[in-house]
Amino acid sequence: MQSTAVPIITIDGPGGVGKGTTAHLLAKRLNWHILDSGAIYRVVAFVAEKSKISIEDCEGLLKQIANLDLNFATDSEGEMRVLLKGKDISVQIREPQIGSAASQLSVYPTIRAALLDCQRQFAKLPGLVADGRDMGTVVFPEAQLKIFLDAAPEARARRRYKQLIAQGRNVTLDDVFAQILERDERDRTRAVSPLKPAEDALIIDTTNLSVNEVFTEVVLQWDKRLREFEKKQGES
Ligand code: DC
Repeated sequence: MQSTAVPIITIDGPGGVGKGTTAHLLAKRLNWHILDSGAIYRVVAFVAEKSKISIEDCEGLLKQIANLDLNFATDSEGEMRVLLKGKDISVQIREPQIGSAASQLSVYPTIRAALLDCQRQFAKLPGLVADGRDMGTVVFPEAQLKIFLDAAPEARARRRYKQLIAQGRNVTLDDVFAQILERDERDRTRAVSPLKPAEDALIIDTTNLSVNEVFTEVVLQWDKRLREFEKKQGES
């Protein structure tokens, strides 16, 4: 770890694994910035839907990305809001069809490349917690701590289902499970930046862990990393 670099912790993993919750808790604890990279892919899918651009029309999508007037803000309750041309679209981008479209358009290398800069700009002092699929492998390979959360698809489907029901959505567990499997397959098998742990990532299976247990483990790992760094500094 270089003392001048922005410290970065990456949290990657499949949908419904608890990345978002863990990343938020961690960013709050450390008072760091947060990047929800999935939200950026979702915004592109949202713009495509609104502009009636097919998610297979790469050129059309790239033009939209070049003119994306996108901002992230924190509201009075500390929740992150996604603003497109100043309009809050945080709720709309969470619609299941937008998630599915985001997964489909994220297979295109040119789209991934066009979104790299936008994601890297989040790396600012005092530090960044970055949540996504390829944070540790592609976007921030220099991150000081890389976490990969995983869990059985049944457990992830149950978590997602509970979230959606709490939001008042009319879904069945079977449908959510099928969507999770479909999304996993696409995210893990795409040619560019597939969902996979970085070689130096710490893999945590969250199937039987509570949110608090996962958070505590990540904090422990970060403290351990800091102590190792301080020890190295002391030796040099
Ligand atoms: O994390 P999420 O469900 O909001 O992400 C939506 C989709 O965006 C996901 O299925 C794949 C894509 N995505 C990606 O390809 N790379 C990322 N770093 C984050 C999300």
